[in-house]
Amino acid sequence: MATDITIHVEDREGNTATLSAPTDMGLSLMEFLKASEYDILATCGGMALCATCCVDIMEGEEKLNEMSDDEYAMLDTLPDVLPNSRLACQIQLSPEYDGLRVRLHAMDN
Ligand code: FES
Repeated sequence: MATDITIHVEDREGNTATLSAPTDMGLSLMEFLKASEYDILATCGGMALCATCCVDIMEGEEKLNEMSDDEYAMLDTLPDVLPNSRLACQIQLSPEYDGLRVRLHAMDN
Protein backbone atom coordinates (compact mmCIF):
# COMPACT_ATOMS: atom_id res chain seq x y z
CA MET A 1 0.00 0.00 0.00
CA ALA A 2 1.85 3.07 -1.25
CA THR A 3 0.44 5.83 0.85
CA ASP A 4 3.74 7.31 1.95
CA ILE A 5 5.18 10.28 0.14
CA THR A 6 8.66 11.73 0.05
CA ILE A 7 9.15 15.23 1.41
CA HIS A 8 12.44 17.11 1.30
CA VAL A 9 12.92 19.45 4.23
CA GLU A 10 15.53 22.13 4.75
CA ASP A 11 15.92 23.42 8.30
CA ARG A 12 16.87 26.98 9.28
CA GLU A 13 20.56 26.01 9.37
CA GLY A 14 20.43 24.85 5.76
CA ASN A 15 20.52 21.11 6.50
CA THR A 16 18.32 19.09 4.19
CA ALA A 17 16.68 15.78 4.86
CA THR A 18 14.52 13.47 2.79
CA LEU A 19 11.63 12.14 4.82
CA SER A 20 8.91 9.64 4.24
CA ALA A 21 5.51 10.91 5.32
CA PRO A 22 2.26 8.97 5.71
CA THR A 23 -0.79 10.36 3.92
CA ASP A 24 -3.36 8.10 5.53
CA MET A 25 -3.22 9.51 9.05
CA GLY A 26 -4.85 12.87 8.48
CA LEU A 27 -1.67 14.73 9.35
CA SER A 28 -0.95 18.29 8.36
CA LEU A 29 2.53 19.19 7.19
CA MET A 30 2.96 21.09 10.48
CA GLU A 31 2.09 18.00 12.54
CA PHE A 32 4.42 15.87 10.46
CA LEU A 33 7.32 18.32 10.80
CA LYS A 34 6.79 18.58 14.55
CA ALA A 35 6.65 14.80 14.85
CA SER A 36 9.91 14.70 12.89
CA GLU A 37 11.40 16.96 15.59
CA TYR A 38 11.71 20.11 13.58
CA ASP A 39 11.77 23.34 15.49
CA ILE A 40 8.22 24.49 14.90
CA LEU A 41 6.31 26.04 17.78
CA ALA A 42 2.82 25.84 16.31
CA THR A 43 1.58 27.89 19.24
CA CYS A 44 -1.98 28.05 17.96
CA GLY A 45 -2.20 24.31 17.42
CA GLY A 46 -2.94 24.53 13.72
CA MET A 47 -5.62 27.23 13.64
CA ALA A 48 -3.80 29.53 11.18
CA LEU A 49 -3.40 32.06 13.99
CA CYS A 50 0.28 32.12 14.94
CA ALA A 51 2.33 31.70 11.74
CA THR A 52 5.10 29.91 13.67
CA CYS A 53 4.59 26.95 11.32
CA CYS A 54 5.47 29.02 8.25
CA VAL A 55 7.42 27.20 5.54
CA ASP A 56 8.65 28.25 2.13
CA ILE A 57 7.66 25.88 -0.64
CA MET A 58 10.72 25.32 -2.81
CA GLU A 59 9.20 22.77 -5.15
CA GLY A 60 5.69 21.44 -5.72
CA GLU A 61 3.79 24.61 -4.87
CA GLU A 62 1.46 24.13 -7.82
CA LYS A 63 0.24 20.83 -6.39
CA LEU A 64 -0.89 22.27 -3.06
CA ASN A 65 -4.39 23.18 -2.03
CA GLU A 66 -5.34 26.82 -2.44
CA MET A 67 -4.77 29.16 0.45
CA SER A 68 -7.79 29.98 2.57
CA ASP A 69 -8.59 33.60 3.42
CA ASP A 70 -7.48 32.93 7.01
CA GLU A 71 -4.12 31.59 5.88
CA TYR A 72 -3.62 34.46 3.49
CA ALA A 73 -4.51 37.04 6.16
CA MET A 74 -2.13 35.47 8.68
CA LEU A 75 0.78 35.30 6.24
CA ASP A 76 0.14 38.88 5.33
CA THR A 77 1.03 39.92 8.90
CA LEU A 78 4.56 38.50 8.60
CA PRO A 79 7.13 41.17 7.78
CA ASP A 80 9.33 38.86 5.73
CA VAL A 81 6.75 36.71 4.00
CA LEU A 82 7.82 35.33 0.62
CA PRO A 83 5.62 34.66 -2.40
CA ASN A 84 6.09 30.93 -1.78
CA SER A 85 5.45 31.01 1.98
CA ARG A 86 2.64 28.90 3.39
CA LEU A 87 1.36 27.86 6.81
CA ALA A 88 2.31 24.21 7.22
CA CYS A 89 -0.72 23.60 9.43
CA GLN A 90 -3.00 24.42 6.51
CA ILE A 91 -1.46 21.79 4.24
CA GLN A 92 -2.98 18.36 4.70
CA LEU A 93 -0.58 15.64 3.56
CA SER A 94 -1.91 13.98 0.47
CA PRO A 95 -0.55 11.46 -2.09
CA GLU A 96 -0.32 14.17 -4.80
CA TYR A 97 2.30 15.99 -2.77
CA ASP A 98 4.98 13.36 -3.35
CA GLY A 99 8.34 15.05 -3.88
CA LEU A 100 7.39 18.28 -2.13
CA ARG A 101 10.38 20.40 -1.14
CA VAL A 102 9.98 22.82 1.77
CA ARG A 103 12.23 25.04 3.82
CA LEU A 104 11.44 26.19 7.35
CA HIS A 105 10.78 29.89 7.13
CA ALA A 106 13.43 32.01 8.83
CA MET A 107 12.02 33.61 11.98
CA ASP A 108 13.53 36.88 13.06
CA ASN A 109 13.12 36.45 16.79
S1 FES B 1 0.31 26.29 13.78
FE1 FES B 1 -0.28 28.33 14.13
S2 FES B 1 -0.52 29.11 12.15
FE2 FES B 1 0.05 27.09 11.80
